[in-house]
Amino acid sequence: MHATSRNIVTNQPGPHRDLARRVERALRHPLRKPIADHTRAAFEQADAWLQGAAGAPLILDAGCGVGLSTRRLASRFPDHRVIGVDRSADRLSRDHGALPDNALLVRADLVDFWRLALAAGWQPARHYLLYPNPYPKSAHLKTRWHGHAIFPVIVALGGRLELRSNWRLYVEEFALALEQATGETAAVEAHDPGADCLTPFEQKYHASGQSLCRLVATLPHAPGLVPTESNEEG
Ligand SMILES: C[S@@+](CC[C@H](N)C(=O)[O-])C[C@H]1O[C@@H](n2cnc3c(N)ncnc32)[C@H](O)[C@@H]1O
Repeated sequence: MHATSRNIVTNQPGPHRDLARRVERALRHPLRKPIADHTRAAFEQADAWLQGAAGAPLILDAGCGVGLSTRRLASRFPDHRVIGVDRSADRLSRDHGALPDNALLVRADLVDFWRLALAAGWQPARHYLLYPNPYPKSAHLKTRWHGHAIFPVIVALGGRLELRSNWRLYVEEFALALEQATGETAAVEAHDPGADCLTPFEQKYHASGQSLCRLVATLPHAPGLVPTESNEEG
């Protein structure tokens, strides 16, 4: 297949100069945005589904789009339960075949869903962030996951966290943020999916000849990383 996805264009020459300050802020000040009722309801359904297979390891597919990766991960890991989360009802509703019994697609805002998951004690064995929106303009740092106040929650959930992108700088910034939050270094490596693309975006970028990269980090479950009202630092 030939495709012509445009390369990412950014006005940043390197990692954002405000990154460390954003991460520091996220580690010190709790995220106060109230949790939306619809995500709370969606989370409760997902939690009940997960409890139905008590003991099965969990895979989170965060920003799953049309859910192809959720289906493929469920087939690849039949003894796991795989939950794909996306806020786009349109993407989630596209027909990509039956869902395996061990997979669930959930419409929810991840900023709320991740907080509910951590509060409920979820400990994903694997956590995928596959081709998140890059937000390549310098002014958009706050909307990248590592520049967002939710970042400590993503890290605190723990497990094998894998981020893939067609924008290397996104992955490099994520690695810097991870090191700042945990002290651990995660390598940013080239990723060649070959014929084994996990998602439509991966397929599209790969077919366009773009360089893909990824980061894999094995993280402890660390709820204490997330600031709360009571331990908020000045
Ligand atoms: C670039 S697409 C990648 C989709 C899929 N992972 C793939 O690789 O084909 C990013 C996805 O993240 C979802 N997304 C972005 N922010 C989100 C949020 N706050 N909560 C839930 N989904 C979100 C978007 O709706 C979109 O489907």
